[in-house]
Amino acid sequence: MVVGSDVQEAADSEWRLGTLRVSRMGFGAMRLASAAAFGQGPSRDRAESIAVLRRARELGVTHFDTAAFYFSALRSANELINAAFPDHDDDLVVATKVGPSRNASGEWADPARPDQLRGQVEENLRQLGRDRLDLVYLRVFGSGSVGEHVGALAELQAEGLIGNVGLSNVSTAQLTEASDIAEVVSVQNRFGLDQRTPEALAVLEETTRRQIAFVPYFAMAGTGGERGRPDETNPVVTDIANRHGASPSQIRLAWTLHQGPNVLAIPGTGDIAHLEQNVAAARIHLSREELDSL
Ligand SMILES: NC(=O)c1ccc[n+]([C@@H]2O[C@H](COP(=O)([O-])OP(=O)(O)OC[C@H]3O[C@@H](n4cnc5c(N)ncnc54)[C@H](OP(=O)(O)O)[C@@H]3O)[C@@H](O)[C@H]2O)c1
Repeated sequence: MVVGSDVQEAADSEWRLGTLRVSRMGFGAMRLASAAAFGQGPSRDRAESIAVLRRARELGVTHFDTAAFYFSALRSANELINAAFPDHDDDLVVATKVGPSRNASGEWADPARPDQLRGQVEENLRQLGRDRLDLVYLRVFGSGSVGEHVGALAELQAEGLIGNVGLSNVSTAQLTEASDIAEVVSVQNRFGLDQRTPEALAVLEETTRRQIAFVPYFAMAGTGGERGRPDETNPVVTDIANRHGASPSQIRLAWTLHQGPNVLAIPGTGDIAHLEQNVAAARIHLSREELDSL
């Protein structure tokens, strides 16, 4: 694992995403519509969710991760982002995803075919109030070829509807295949302190070799996934947290950013106090000994 003093100094710094620069501590908008993703549980208060987004921006967060399929009965993550940042200044980077489909009632449908990706890109443009999407991830299901889907995104990029292309939930083989078709600037896969599978580590290593971003999801929620809350009982994490006067969640985020300068964090929260803790976690420097024990 790459960890040196340069990495630690970079923990609260920026990374380039293709044509863009982002704060390494970003924000994941999946939980803004409802605390348990995909509308499981009540919708959040709209004004509070918008206040969380604006506070993140005030604190220097420039990277916001979203998707058209992040919605509950009353709220849409894309609509909240559009309302929070109507002017979309040049420093703001909104990354969205295509592939998964939910109907208006929130039921999951088959993932999009390549010819359906244009409609999904246009749906994101309408919801976000943009003429061009900064970064679009193809969210992949299964281990098959991604070539036709990535080819469709490359066409939309050539038309100017997409600035940059990313991949989510992919293997190293899929990353290699896609990179022959389009410039892939980022990979968003499941990874965290409790979820260091050999597959995830192999993809992290490959993104580092290619000098592109690796953006783990569920870095705090861990094995609990989309309904999960951070595990605050791990004694090693708790001990290090106590030494830093930090929370276990903050240590999980700090650990994430220490995995390499190309590793970004996109913690999800609808709570301003949690947001402020998450942003502060980018300034926690873990020692070599602490990283080894984690
Ligand atoms: N590409 C994909 O397939 C994929 C899949 C899932 C997620 N994602 C992206 O990844 C982002 C992160 O995923 P996620 O939001 O599900 O998981 P997460 O960021 O790992 O954890 C979110 C959970 O942690 C809690 N939390 C946040 N900050 C906290 C703090 N400082 N102290 C204690 N608890 C805290 C949140 O509750 P509170 O709201 O109460 O703070 C929520 O329950 C999503 O928003 C989404 O953008 C991508």
